[in-house]
Amino acid sequence: MLVVSGSSCRHIAEDMAKLLGCEHHPLEARRFPDSEGYFRVPESSIEKIRSTTVILVSNTFPDSCIIETLLLLEAINDVKQGKLADIRGKGIDCSPTKSGLFLAIPYFGYSRQDKRFNQGEAVSARSIGMLLSSKCDGITVLDLHAPEVLENLSTPVTFSSSMDEIANYLQSEINPDFILSPDKGAIERASFVAEKIGCRFSYLEKTRIDAHTIIHKAKDLDVNGAVVTIVDDMISTGGTICRASEALREQGAKAVYAACSHGLFTGGAISKLDQYVDGIVASDSLKNPRSVVSSASALCRGIDKLIENRN
Ligand code: R5P
Repeated sequence: MLVVSGSSCRHIAEDMAKLLGCEHHPLEARRFPDSEGYFRVPESSIEKIRSTTVILVSNTFPDSCIIETLLLLEAINDVKQGKLADIRGKGIDCSPTKSGLFLAIPYFGYSRQDKRFNQGEAVSARSIGMLLSSKCDGITVLDLHAPEVLENLSTPVTFSSSMDEIANYLQSEINPDFILSPDKGAIERASFVAEKIGCRFSYLEKTRIDAHTIIHKAKDLDVNGAVVTIVDDMISTGGTICRASEALREQGAKAVYAACSHGLFTGGAISKLDQYVDGIVASDSLKNPRSVVSSASALCRGIDKLIENRN
């Protein structure tokens, strides 16, 4: 087995390679001055890529990484197919190999556009999933917002979660008495964390008016004097967490923390959140100053499932 990465997830790919006991090879991924990408399997990796199962670790966020992921898969497939001759006469085409190619996606961008909420919209998550699945033998995705959107693609998809590792981190560093899901969508993840830690749990009902406006339905929470952690799949503007934290403080919470898999932290979200919560915990699916939990183990579990199902 071989783990490879482009520009987005080298840190995770290196950790995964250690856990899987195999090599990590960085692929060439850079930008031309006009921002178009250049992607290549280096000559030194060709033989290894042809001879073994390859796992590409790559995000589909920001948009440029969608193109990068697709073109890295394409380049790896060409190498596996034996398309090795270039226009300068270097390399010769040879026979295809049957070794597999899997994709591990720490953060799947566009995951929230998982339905046609309004007539005429693209179901972006599905469209991107279809493109990626046409170029590999299986995909694992970490903490996908709504996994249903990637069901029944042309290649198997497994879903992995870093909530196990997030729960361990919270238990040892914060020791919360109460876990709160800020909306119904995060109930499964947050209740898993509460169960693992062995503490109380509840959820809020959220209505999103627009990207920056959120209303939480008032609810009595038994949080007086409690250390609470709000657990969500992702934090973007931070609005959801700030409103939930206000509700918790009003009801007497002693301390409020936020935890998520994917820390997007858009538009100054960290400074805003710092005014509302006592600390923020995120996985390293996206690089940010709060990524303290490794997502590598969870992604390896997802890859193991893909390989098990294939055999
Ligand atoms: C939406 O349902 C997601 O699970 C998150 O709650 C949401 O994306 C967070 O966004 P923001 O930080 O902008 O409130």
